[in-house]
Amino acid sequence: MTTQEFLGKQNFTITNQTVSESCPSNIALIKYWGKYADQIPANPSISYTLNHCKTNTSMEFLADEPFSVQTFLAGNEEVKFAEKIEKYFKNIEHYLPWILKGKYIIRTENTFPHSSGIASSASGFGAIAKCLMKLDETFSGKSSEEESLRKASFLARLGSGSACRSLYNGLVVWGKSEEVVGSSDLFAVQYPDAEIHDIFKNFNDWVLLIHEGQKSVSSTVGHGLMKTNPYAERRFQEARENFVPMKEILKTGNMEEFIRLVEHEALTLHAMMMMSEPAFILMKTGTLEVINKIWDFRRETGLPLFFTLDAGANVHLLFPNNGSEDQIKTFIETELLQHTQKNGVVKDVMKF
Ligand code: PMV
Repeated sequence: MTTQEFLGKQNFTITNQTVSESCPSNIALIKYWGKYADQIPANPSISYTLNHCKTNTSMEFLADEPFSVQTFLAGNEEVKFAEKIEKYFKNIEHYLPWILKGKYIIRTENTFPHSSGIASSASGFGAIAKCLMKLDETFSGKSSEEESLRKASFLARLGSGSACRSLYNGLVVWGKSEEVVGSSDLFAVQYPDAEIHDIFKNFNDWVLLIHEGQKSVSSTVGHGLMKTNPYAERRFQEARENFVPMKEILKTGNMEEFIRLVEHEALTLHAMMMMSEPAFILMKTGTLEVINKIWDFRRETGLPLFFTLDAGANVHLLFPNNGSEDQIKTFIETELLQHTQKNGVVKDVMKF
């Protein structure tokens, strides 16, 4: 598939509309870090879609008014976000030819705390792309649900790369991988359900809010620094290669190898940050304390509690519901919660 497939129809009729959509966040297991022009990822990635961490968005479109965007986050007007969305809309006009022919009032709310440091761009752009596809169906005619979702994923990617994975439930792949049939750099695809062992279908992700608030380096800047990172090519290659064991692990249910691979990916992401020029570190003292405690706990109990990290200090605690979850939850509450800033934890599960 090429971008040509996503060009919009030139025949459309616009009318005043209000649409609403909701989209969850996702957490990558094999990470995307580094990109080329037009939001093409430097390597494929695979993520779990979350269940509770969502963005709910309503989009009011006023036809034939001069193009402008007004955004409200949890009821408060956000001018900076509106500027970002305006730029985004101008950038996707080829794919939605009606998009600059009206005024937008976008109201958006996250189900997770605003200042938590949980990235809202994946769920946020996912929800916006879904709203746009709803408007497109009204203005340009209906397409199949599959096509519409794929285009929503394509459009979400142009807003924020990892957002394209949030359009699908379960395990989701974005980026061309020889290991995943139908995978593409342009949009995400669902990892085939029949290829996933049951143990991976009932999983928890508890996000420990180690540091709430703004990150010192944005992911846009972080991706950019991969361009001059001397280890970048090796990293991209490794991420591609990691799809081989990942495929086998997902099929066989090999938890030990899953844990090894997922933690390795998280630490590699942060190692890349430390080896960037200029270097930066997003982990905090609490992040390292939690990681060490998790490793001690696993050594002592053998229970499958492990972590991943996104581009921030928060720790995503991953563990399956396989009978040991009560012991793990008690450990988290008594030993790990103390390393958060304000006893903050967002308890989520993977959405299948
Ligand atoms: O989609 P972005 O630009 O916010 O980048 C996401 C990068 C990571 O969260 C660190 C990894 C990933 O694959 O989601």
